[in-house]
Parts: sequence; C-alpha cells; structure tokens
Amino acid sequence: MQQWSVRAESLTKVYKMGKNEVHALRGVDLELEEGAFVSIMGRSGSGKSTLLHILGCLDRPTSGRVYLGGEEVTALAQRVLPRVRREKVGFMFQDRNLIPTLTALENVMLPMKYARVPRQAARGRAEQLLSWVGLSDRARHLPAELSGGEQARVALARALANAPTVVLADEPTGALDSQTAAEVVALMHRLNRESGTTFLIVTHDPLVAQRTDRIYHMMDGKITRVEKAAGEAGQEAVR
Ligand SMILES: Nc1ncnc2c1ncn2[C@@H]1O[C@H](COP(=O)(O)OP(=O)(O)OP(=O)(O)O)[C@@H](O)[C@H]1O
Ligand SMILES: [Mg+2]
Repeated sequence: MQQWSVRAESLTKVYKMGKNEVHALRGVDLELEEGAFVSIMGRSGSGKSTLLHILGCLDRPTSGRVYLGGEEVTALAQRVLPRVRREKVGFMFQDRNLIPTLTALENVMLPMKYARVPRQAARGRAEQLLSWVGLSDRARHLPAELSGGEQARVALARALANAPTVVLADEPTGALDSQTAAEVVALMHRLNRESGTTFLIVTHDPLVAQRTDRIYHMMDGKITRVEKAAGEAGQEAVR
C-alpha cells in the first residue's frame, strides 16, 4: 500500500472577520508520497500559507482532515500538537526565523533541545547537519554574521534537526537572488533524496518551482492544477 507522508482531505478554512468571512481554503485535497519534493505556486492571497500552517498543525482547518505519516492530526487534542509539530514537521520561512543571539550551531540545536535530546547528542547531530549544508566553518557565527544564502542553509539544517516527516517551506528563498535561490533548492533536493524527507515548498519563483518534481497551482483557496515539473533531471539537461 502506498505510504502517504502528508494527506489532506477536503480542507476548508474560513476566517471570521466581524460580519465578513474570508474563505481562505475551499476544499483542498492533497496526497504526498514519502520522499516527495513538490512546490505550490499561486497568486498572493490564494491560500498557500494558510494551507501550510494547517498541514503543519500551527492552525486548525474549519473542516476536513490532515494526516501526517498516517496519523490523523486533526483528531488530536490541542495540547499534544506541539509534540506532533516537533516530531513530524520542519518549518522554513522566508524571514528564516533564526534566533539572532544564538550561533548557527545553537540555532540548529534548538529544536532538539525542545525535544529533550541530550545536549551532547544534539550537538553532534547539529554539527553533522551543518556539514551537510556546507557550513561547518560557520558554526560559531551569529545569523547577522552570515549571508542570506547561508542563513537559509542554517534554517534548512534546523528544519531537519528532528528528522521530520515533512519539511514545510514558505518562500524559503524569497529574500535571495535567483542564483542563490537555485543553489538552496538544489541543496534541499539533495537532502530530500538522502534523508527521504518529504518537502513542500511554497514559492513565487518559477525557477525554484521548476526544480521540484511537481507544482500544485492554487487559486482562490483551491488547487486548480497539478503540473509535472522538470525536476532536477530537467535542470541537468538544460545546463
Ligand atoms: N489570520 C487571518 N485572519 C483573517 N484572514 C486571513 C488570515 N490569514 C489569512 N487570511 C486571508 O486568507 C487569504 C489567504 O491568505 P494566505 O496568507 O494563505 O495567502 P498566500 O497565498 O500565502 O499569499 P502570499 O503569496 O501573499 O503569501 C487571504 O485573503 C488573507 O487575507
Ligand atoms: Mg503566504
């Protein structure tokens, strides 16, 4: 039987704003196989971040179900959701959310600290992750002492810290020039293959989307089209 790492059924999200309602999601179905490397594109306001937040248990849908690694997370009590997020989801955001007072190494160790991984083990894994993203020699730098691309790579290492089921990335390369963005996505793809972690990447950049295996197009709170993208093989071919 096919193992889905992420499955969403008939998701809706209605924000009530006084007398007005905003229908941010209007029935989204999504099935991502283990190890999928896919992207979401769509105009501003089409519901991309709302969908990511609901898949990542940062918010609840108005109706519908979400399964992560086979477990229905929409059936769980509010109080267990922080644990589910910690264990199953790695987040990457455009502003990268690195803690400015912590070094690169400490930033990568943080999710493991929350998961109560012993300090020595967390340190060892953080060093390993930083070496995977090519930043061993920047481990003691503060975020402000890193370039934008390096900060994105630290955020990627941190997202993978607890070996999540899925990495949910909301415009992770939005602040980068296109060359650096392409390098970060190539790195994400390599780590996707090596770790088997599913990646779902929201992006406005067609060059980023084309490097994933599938592009989901969203419009007005729905997935309106799924496009098979060039993926990495296509990128190699055009080089
Ligand atoms: N907390 C909220 N309260 C009320 N309305 C919201 C809230 N969050 C989002 N919305 C509305 O829901 C719709 C979808 O927003 P969302 O942030 O998911 O869009 P998006 O596709 O991520 O856009 P962008 O590309 O600009 O990031 C928008 O119309 C937005 O105004
Ligand atoms: Mg958004």
